[in-house]
Amino acid sequence: MNLLVTGGCGFIGSNFVRYWLGQHPQDQVVVYDKLTYAGRRENLHDLWNDPRLELVVGDIGDLALVRQTCQTKNIDLIVNFAAETHVDQSILGPLVFTETNVRGTHVLLEVVRELGIRLHHISTDEVYGHIRDGHQSVETDELAPRSPYAASKAAADQLVQAYFITYGLPVTITRGANNVGPYQYPEKAVPLFSTNALLGEPLPVYGDGQQMRDYAHVYDHCTGIETVLLRGEAGQVYNVGTGREMTNLEMVDIVLTTLGKDYALVKHVADRPGHDRRYSMNVEKLRRLAWEPRYDPKEAVAEATKWYAQNEWWWSPIRSGEFREYYDRQYAQRLAEGGAQ
Ligand SMILES: NC(=O)c1ccc[n+]([C@@H]2O[C@H](COP(=O)([O-])OP(=O)(O)OC[C@H]3O[C@@H](n4cnc5c(N)ncnc54)[C@H](O)[C@@H]3O)[C@@H](O)[C@H]2O)c1
Repeated sequence: MNLLVTGGCGFIGSNFVRYWLGQHPQDQVVVYDKLTYAGRRENLHDLWNDPRLELVVGDIGDLALVRQTCQTKNIDLIVNFAAETHVDQSILGPLVFTETNVRGTHVLLEVVRELGIRLHHISTDEVYGHIRDGHQSVETDELAPRSPYAASKAAADQLVQAYFITYGLPVTITRGANNVGPYQYPEKAVPLFSTNALLGEPLPVYGDGQQMRDYAHVYDHCTGIETVLLRGEAGQVYNVGTGREMTNLEMVDIVLTTLGKDYALVKHVADRPGHDRRYSMNVEKLRRLAWEPRYDPKEAVAEATKWYAQNEWWWSPIRSGEFREYYDRQYAQRLAEGGAQ
């Protein structure tokens, strides 16, 4: 197969490319990526000399370039990871989220419709919104997104489903839980807290830190996507996570324990507006396709943390570059003021 992996220079996309080429040595992969701040060539540093991999730098909103790339590279399948992905950035500047996540996905659907190729779309548990205690989201639940990021992902998810219903296209969707693992941009919680702790800086924890998350290892997300690509049914949606949760404070505790750092580094700061208290997904539908996660959430967070401890070469240039400006905008005042516990 020839795969077009959009967003393949990002966190999950690059892990997926590495996983896929390892498991499917006959396949060719074209990474199609705009190389935003989150898309980094070095995420695939070990693979650029591999003749099975190439990079096209482009925007998924560029219909002519997506079409031309699919035609000239004989693409059989698009796996769409490309997105603006950070909730805090979507609060600071939401329009680009609609541009990439909604319009960009729509462009991919149009190319898929025209050329008759398959699309697998990566969605998120955040489309379900805040989940009440005692419930776990199933794939047929209503979508109730509560941030500009989640709303843009929900719109894309529904467009993909609408294209299946209207045009009968061969599309599938996975909704991933909070992923952790190598090459995650340090704006996200686990790499942020790991690298802050390694640098001896405070760990800014939003609000009381009691938000519940399913921290799934990116490896298990990759095997979940592979399972759907090999055995999933067209038009279907599959949740991918561990089905287990922990609080953000428990996650912080694992990060600090793994690094041997002191809890005194934790600083509670003003919460994110509209911060969802709980995500939780039922993953039985994917299990029925003979998939099982390798890592439980505690192992996932500990493994991810160890990777940041061992790969300063990767995060150190990011932390001293444009990331600093974002970090100060997001946290400087919050850290100065402190927050409720
Ligand atoms: N990180 C998570 O915990 C998580 C959980 C569930 C689902 N997801 C979804 O998985 C996908 C990948 O997430 P991630 O965490 O790897 O994101 P990321 O931010 O690390 O990477 C996103 C990638 O998309 C590229 N990109 C952005 N805009 C583009 C555009 N217009 N055209 C082409 N490329 C563009 C970026 O350059 C980058 O390489 C996203 O769709 C996200 O919504 C993420």
